[in-house]
Amino acid sequence: MRLPRKLFVVGVGPGSPLCVTDAAKEAVKKSKYIVGYTYTLATIEGIMDRKKQQVLEVTMKSQEDVYQDVYKRMKDGEYCTVPFTGDVNFSESEVVDRLLEIFGNDNVQIIPGISSIQVAAAKSRVPTDKAFIVTFHVTGDIEQKKKELVQAVKDGKSVILLPRPWPRDLTKHFMQSEIAKFLRENGVDTSKLKAWVFERLTTDKETTFTGFVRDLEGKEFSDLSAMVIDQVKRQTYLEF
Ligand SMILES: C[S@@+](CC[C@H](N)C(=O)[O-])C[C@H]1O[C@@H](n2cnc3c(N)ncnc32)[C@H](O)[C@@H]1O
Repeated sequence: MRLPRKLFVVGVGPGSPLCVTDAAKEAVKKSKYIVGYTYTLATIEGIMDRKKQQVLEVTMKSQEDVYQDVYKRMKDGEYCTVPFTGDVNFSESEVVDRLLEIFGNDNVQIIPGISSIQVAAAKSRVPTDKAFIVTFHVTGDIEQKKKELVQAVKDGKSVILLPRPWPRDLTKHFMQSEIAKFLRENGVDTSKLKAWVFERLTTDKETTFTGFVRDLEGKEFSDLSAMVIDQVKRQTYLEF
C-alpha cells in the first residue's frame, strides 16, 4: 500500500512557547522536515531536534522552491511540518492554499493555534463575537476591506485587526497611522474612538498602547502588532 507524504500545517501561537498546543508539539516531533520562517521556527526551537530533523528556514522569496523540493525529497510515510505564527487559519491562506496544491488536499492536516487576534481580544476585553475582525496583512487588494472597516466602525462595532506593513511601497503601507488617518478622512470622529495597539504579544518585548484612534496618527509601531478599536458595551446575563 502506498502511504501518503503527509504535511502538518500547524499554528504555533504568537510567540511564547507556552501558547504552543500539545497537538502542535506532537506534529513537530514526528516530522522529518520542518519548514518555516525564522520568527515562527524560534517559537518551536525547544521542541525541534536539529540533529535528527531537517529544519529549513524560508523567506517569501525562497519558499516556493523549498516546499517543492521537500515534497520531492520526502519518502512515502514521512511527515513534514510547516509551522505558522498564531493560528494557521487566520491571515495565512495565501501560503496555505499553495501548500494544499503542492501536497494535495487530502495529504494535509491543519492544526489550529492561538491567534494574535485572540490574545489581543483577551487583553482588550473585546470578545471576538462582538468585533469585526480583519487582516490587512495580505498581498492582494485591500480596498474592499477598507470600506468594510469604515462601515463597521460607523455601525458601532468593535474591530480587531492586523495592519499591513509595506515599507518598500508606502502606497501599500496600511499601519496604525494610515488607518487612523483613513478613518478620519472617511467621516469617523477618531478623537472619541478608543484604541489599543499590542506589539510583540506573548514575548518578553510585549508593549501595549491605549488611547484614542486620533493619537495613532504619526505614531510608528512594529510589524508584529495587532490593533483593537473598542466600542464594546458590556452586557451580562442579568439583563436578559
Ligand atoms: C501573516 S500575519 C499572521 C497572523 C497569524 N496567523 C495569527 O493568527 O496571529 C502576520 C501578522 O500577525 C500579527 N502578529 C503575529 N504575531 C504577533 C504578535 N506576537 N504580536 C502582535 N502581532 C502579531 C502581526 O500583525 C503580523 O504582522
